[in-house]
Order: sequence, then C-alpha cells, then structure tokens
Amino acid sequence: MTMDKSNIDAVSLVSALRRRLETVGMSAAQASLRSGLGRSVVADILSGKSANPGISTLAKIAAALGIGVADLLAAAGAPEMGGGLAGRTVLLVIGGGIAAYKSLDLIRRLRERGALVRVVMTKAATEFVTPLAAGALSGGRVFTGLFDRDDEHDVGHIRLAREADAVVVAPATADLMARMAAGRTDDLATAVLLATRAPVLLAPAMNPKMWSHPATVRNVATLRADGIRFVGPNAGEMAERGEVGLGRMAEPLEIAAAVEAIFGGGALAGRHVIVTSGPTHEPIDPVRYLGNRSSGRQGHAIAAAAARAGARVTLVAGPVAIPDPPGVTVVHVETAGEMLDAVTAALPADAAVFAAAVADWRAARPQVEKIKKKAGGPPALALTENPDILATVAYRKKDRPRLVIGFAAETQDLLANATKKLKAKGADWIVANDVSPEAGVMGGEQNTVHIISASGIEDWPRLAKGEVAERLVAKIAAALA
Ligand code: CTP
Repeated sequence: MTMDKSNIDAVSLVSALRRRLETVGMSAAQASLRSGLGRSVVADILSGKSANPGISTLAKIAAALGIGVADLLAAAGAPEMGGGLAGRTVLLVIGGGIAAYKSLDLIRRLRERGALVRVVMTKAATEFVTPLAAGALSGGRVFTGLFDRDDEHDVGHIRLAREADAVVVAPATADLMARMAAGRTDDLATAVLLATRAPVLLAPAMNPKMWSHPATVRNVATLRADGIRFVGPNAGEMAERGEVGLGRMAEPLEIAAAVEAIFGGGALAGRHVIVTSGPTHEPIDPVRYLGNRSSGRQGHAIAAAAARAGARVTLVAGPVAIPDPPGVTVVHVETAGEMLDAVTAALPADAAVFAAAVADWRAARPQVEKIKKKAGGPPALALTENPDILATVAYRKKDRPRLVIGFAAETQDLLANATKKLKAKGADWIVANDVSPEAGVMGGEQNTVHIISASGIEDWPRLAKGEVAERLVAKIAAALA
C-alpha cells in the first residue's frame, strides 16, 4: 500500500492529532505547554476553528506528542487507505538476534498499515542492526537505554508502555523471553514489557535446540498463561549452516497480519475459508498405505494466514507431522474419501483453497488382515480412482464457494498443465508450482508459484511458504471485497 500524501488535507491532519491526544490522554493545555504554542492557538486548531493551520504549527503539536510529521501523515492518510492499523501505536521491541534485520522490514509493513511505530532496541539488538536504520524507517527516535537520561526525560518507560496499543517483540530471543517470564526489568525493553497493559505479541527466533529446550518450553508456557500472544516460529533453515528445524522468525508480513488480527481488523473478518492440506493415506491393509511426500506446510500456512486475517477457518488436514495452526478449526482425516466428506460438511464457505496433495488412487480392495508374503511373488495391487475433491466442490450447483482455488503440482510443462487444470477442474485460480526434485518444494521451506486465472498468469518470486500464504490471503480478501 502506498500513500499519496498530496491527498491529505489539514482537516485529516488535525483529526489525526486529535485522535492521538485522546489516545494518550493529553489535554489541549498540556499540548500547548509542551509545544510552546499559545493555549488559544492549540485550542482553535483542535476545535477546527482555525481554518488552515500551517504544517510547522501542526508539527510542533505532533512533536509534543512525541511523533514526527511522517507519522502524522501516515496516521492521517491511513483511515482513508483502509490500513488495518490506522491510528494505532505499535511499540516494536527489537531483540538481539540475527533475525533483527527482518524487523526493519517489519517497521515498514506496520507503517504501511497505518500504524505509528515506536522502536525500543535491546543492547544486543544494536549489535545486529543500528538504531539509526530503525529510526530512519520508523520516522522517530529509537529508545535503547533504561538509564539513558535523555530517553527517560523525553518519554520514559512508563509512557512508552502506556501509549502503546500493542507491543510486538521481534525477534523474541530465548533470553528476552526468559527475562519476561521471570518478570525482570533489567533493561528498557523488559521494563516496558512489564509496565504495559497493551496486548503483547512475540515473534520468537532462535536455534531449534534452544527453542525445544525444556527451559524455553517452560518460559513459553508461562508467557502464554500470562496472555502473551505468539506468531511463529516457523520451521526452516537457520542462519547457522546446516541447521534446520523450528526456530526461524515469522516473516514480517505474517507478523504484521498478526498485529492486525489483535485489533480484529483483518481483511477476511466475517468470512469462512476452507483449506485442505497435507497428503492423504490410502490403506492397502492395516499396516500399509499409499501416500506421498507432502508436508502440509503450504496449506497450513495458508490456513494460519487466513485466520490472522480474521477469517473463520476450517482446515481439513491429512496425516502431517506439523502442529495445528492456532485459531483454526482442524479436522484430521486420513483418506481422500474422508477429506471430501469433511470439506462438504464444512460448506458453505466464501473461499476454498485445495492445497492438499490428494492421492489420485486408492487400493480397490483394502485388506482387513495384513497381506502375507507368499511363494509366487508379490501380490497384484488393483487401484481405483479417488474422487477429485476440488472438482467436486467447484462444480457444485448449490453452495459453491465464491472463490475456488486449486494447486497444480507439476514436474514438467508447469504452466500448460496448470492452465489445463484450471479449466478441467472448474477452479477460479490455480496456484501452480514446480515440484521437480531440483525445485526442493516438497517438504521444503520456499515456493515459487504462478497464479493462473481466466485473466492471465501472475508470476510470483521465490518466497518463504509463509509469505506465499500471506500474499494469497491478501489476494483472496481483495477478490471477495
Ligand atoms: N485435488 C483434489 N482431489 C484429488 C486430486 C487433486 O482436490 N483427488 C486437487 C489438489 O488439492 C490440487 C489440485 O486438485 O488443488 C491439483 O492436484 P494435482 O495432484 O496437481 O493434479 P491431479 O488432478 O492429481 O492431476 P495429475 O496428478 O495428473 O497432475
């Protein structure tokens, strides 16, 4: 979202100022004192009596509120832009981890959504990114020290805590979470976190061994019990070579969506979205099955993203080894037949996303007893075709979701095959991805997709699966709006 600043007039700037004053509980008289402007000047501006106040005067009042002109413009423009964080102050605490560089992008994402972003950095964070960079992106000063005389004099940790509508900690390191769980206040970040009564969202980032350590598990449980929210961590490659597992910080877009969800202003609020995910297992006998290598990561990420965007989400998941996404109704199934039943039972829906890698065939006669080895060679396995869940739903006369989205996993002729599937299966969009082993999509962290619809082909860059999910959900929201 970009903003055309020339469209923002003095009236919107003044109402943005008024909203801020109300939020922080500052009177016109206090604003006059702090800004050095006359009482009547401030009163006339805020009441709308003074017809066209100059930008420098407005900037002085904004400065009294501790915000810059850039933030005032963002706050003034955001309501018209439909930014889900318009008029909200988000306090971003940047912890000391390698993922801190992503928090710089997060600042941008939050401001795009209309938030006024204030930044606190731990001492360790400043080893990874500079306060100068964070300040340039946030459009304001960055707070670093609890015992910094300037920081405490100008704003102070209590005021930082009180003026935040939400506090986001990204990256939330193991140490920072441990200190939070213990209620310590040995730096500005932890002091603010203890003093605030605003919702707090953590985006953990650490080595997978640190994340799964009993001490961290204990701290996370304590923080959850205290009402702290979490986004991520995601599974994936770590900064350290060869390290994979749970511990990667959620992508900036995922975090921004989670912040929006705190305020219930998601782009999919009031919508029902059905998502299928994972493989299906088709029994051959009680111990053997036909299956495939799908991990369910892409489908689960889409379900999580839709939930963060405020949708009611039904996730129909085949057998996967990943956890259920938070805030989603999950129906666990084994076979394609069960998946179809669960999807039909969940209708009606506004959109349905078929990300599951459904087994095309099942054993024609699954055996009740384990098939034994016999002389005369292996048994013949007769197969029969499974129902096509996507096509069945797309061709429903009654209660067909407005938006039916399929995936096309191909190892050759990607776009041609995917375009054929769009027509044959009656889908509105096909998300086409190359699953040849070289692409590393199956079970991997990243995905390069193309969105095929009646209006043409959109090529997306190589993205983390979480980011593909966020973008897809944003596109779904726009299509349903
Ligand atoms: N799909 C489905 N039910 C099936 C098979 C596929 O709902 N029985 C959906 C998948 O979830 C996906 C899309 O159809 O959204 C395409 O799946 P894919 O396996 O790539 O295509 P197939 O139809 O199986 O064709 P082929 O295996 O020949 O490429």
